[in-house]
Amino acid sequence: MMFRPRIICFICNWSLPAGVDVASPTTIHAYPKIHVVQVMCVGRVDPAVVLGTFAKGADGVLVIGCHPPDCHYIYGNLQAERKVKMLKKLLSLTGLEQERLRLDWAYAYEIERFPKIIDDFRNLVIALGPSPLAEEKADSNILLNIKAAKAAAEDFRLRVLVGRERELTEKENMFGEKISQKEFDVLLHEVVEAEFIRHKIHLLTKEKPMSVKEIAAIVNMKPALVLRHIVNMRRKGMIALDHVDRTTLLYKALEVQ
Ligand code: FES
Repeated sequence: MMFRPRIICFICNWSLPAGVDVASPTTIHAYPKIHVVQVMCVGRVDPAVVLGTFAKGADGVLVIGCHPPDCHYIYGNLQAERKVKMLKKLLSLTGLEQERLRLDWAYAYEIERFPKIIDDFRNLVIALGPSPLAEEKADSNILLNIKAAKAAAEDFRLRVLVGRERELTEKENMFGEKISQKEFDVLLHEVVEAEFIRHKIHLLTKEKPMSVKEIAAIVNMKPALVLRHIVNMRRKGMIALDHVDRTTLLYKALEVQ
């Protein structure tokens, strides 16, 4: 049977072409299995919600906003661009192809281009095949990774960093310094990786107390690196020593407030 991908399309109210009625089964819903979520601005699309849709088995997520520099809320489309950049970095750690997420721009008058945006993305997702999370027996490792990515995206540190990208790269601080875009991208990459792995350790140790060695084997990292993350997580109140088995320390996740 032909694969009909399940695609979630977040679209800005202002870039939705006139005449396309998302509530009408004869227009956009004519595309099989495309679910439209109309938002007032794509800057409001929460990264954790995007990852949540992947966790529930979406084959692709398409975000369509107003062409920069036109956004009714000034920087909403640029905020969406930064969030998608961060999301793609997270997705690349999960085992799910980052191409399953796409951001595109459209003007409301581009009535002909609109179906092309959807068709191009749909064809790409068809070429990628069904999401490993769409099947009844979802890939447990990828699912754990997506959950860790979602928790990282909800984390205060990553939200603040993404939210302040423009301020940090375009404005000088009180000492007349600013971060170059390249430096910011390196920092973002490091924070994304660190937050992802910490939340993955948190999820793993929620199930049962684990030693550094056990965790290192699952996350495929050197024990010394895992220990460094655990020290950081203990400081943040994410994990605690549960008990000592002979000479081995076992850690257990704490509820994060
Ligand atoms: Fe359309 Fe902001 S109003 S992207």
